[in-house]
Amino acid sequence: MMTSIGSDRYRDRVVLVTGGAGAIGSALCRVLAEAGAAKVIVLDDLSSASRWNVPSLPNILFIEGSILDEVELKRVFLDHPHVVFHLAALFANQNSIDHPETDLMVNGTGTLKLLQFSQLSGVERFVYASSGCAIYGSSAPLPLKEDFISIHLSSPYQITKMLGECYCTFFNNHYGLNTVRPRFFNSYGPGEIPGQYRNVIPNFIYLALQGRPLPITGTGEETRDFTYVGDIVEGLLRVGYMDEAVGEEFNLASGKETRIIDLANAINDLTGNPSGVVFAERRKWDTKSRLLASIEKASNLIGYQPSTDLTKGLSATVQWFRDNWDLIQETSRFGPGMSAAVPGYVVSKESQATRSEKEPQAVLG
Ligand SMILES: NC(=O)c1ccc[n+]([C@@H]2O[C@H](COP(=O)([O-])OP(=O)(O)OC[C@H]3O[C@@H](n4cnc5c(N)ncnc54)[C@H](O)[C@@H]3O)[C@@H](O)[C@H]2O)c1
Repeated sequence: MMTSIGSDRYRDRVVLVTGGAGAIGSALCRVLAEAGAAKVIVLDDLSSASRWNVPSLPNILFIEGSILDEVELKRVFLDHPHVVFHLAALFANQNSIDHPETDLMVNGTGTLKLLQFSQLSGVERFVYASSGCAIYGSSAPLPLKEDFISIHLSSPYQITKMLGECYCTFFNNHYGLNTVRPRFFNSYGPGEIPGQYRNVIPNFIYLALQGRPLPITGTGEETRDFTYVGDIVEGLLRVGYMDEAVGEEFNLASGKETRIIDLANAINDLTGNPSGVVFAERRKWDTKSRLLASIEKASNLIGYQPSTDLTKGLSATVQWFRDNWDLIQETSRFGPGMSAAVPGYVVSKESQATRSEKEPQAVLG
């Protein structure tokens, strides 16, 4: 279990985690439950996650339902959670381009409903999962500081992630609901099941373990600020109780830049994949050639210090893939019929190291 100065603060607390079956939510729930929370309520409709990913611990109560369903919301708020971590969302850019109305419903209306219920039920702290990859726009100088936001965004997801922040600020200022808006940068780690709309790291590992070449959409010179999920959880624990966080926004990132080609090579080395990389055109919405966050504000105000470097984080992630390979194979979602990030690249779930032109195309997230 991760140790954290924040974890003690959750002893005997009732905590609601929306999206708690997801990549980050499942890791957060485990830490909260192991830190002695009285009850960790997970509200997740499993639209992009699997039940097996929710830790089986006695103080975790899993409720399968949508944040848009007021009956389910009444049910979870009956327990009067002290803290709400609102992580449920339609994720992410390409998914929102394929499903813009669902994106607005879940990320916009869903967030508004959660805020309304939280305010009425007297929640002490509302933590909203925002995105540093979404709301800074493509021409902001690096490292990205919290006030470099832009309205020139390139996907519905980016727009609705910003909308959620605006609602949080409104509820904070107008109703006095204590909201805080951590902005995650490229989270990765155990618990993220690969799929059509998922992030590059789980999809690269999934392919590498099948001996497939890793498809890079761009030149490989593009950079991202990859952040280990344990470090994101550590930041979430802090913003969930610290007074300094109220009303604020914080980048939760590693503060380090990694080139995609270096990431791909590292994953191929770690998994012993001899198949190298293939290049495809950059996706139209992908307007950011470099991403690097400033973590100065989070470090100064809430003592946030990421502690897992990429090499260590990738090893832990590959190990999680190996340990859960059958479940991952069964539940990863590379559905047919959607627009493909890499035209012609087919993800086969059945056969290892095979390519079948007959199978449907799938996106690499
Ligand atoms: N992973 C990242 O790199 C990253 C970066 C920036 C921000 N974020 C934000 O952090 C949060 C968590 O990200 P994640 O990577 O764990 O994503 P995820 O997709 O793994 O988790 C989101 C969860 O929400 C659930 N969900 C979707 N619609 C729902 C609905 N209507 N009702 C209830 N549950 C619903 C999904 O089933 C899923 O389990 C999201 O809000 C995301 O926008 C993630």
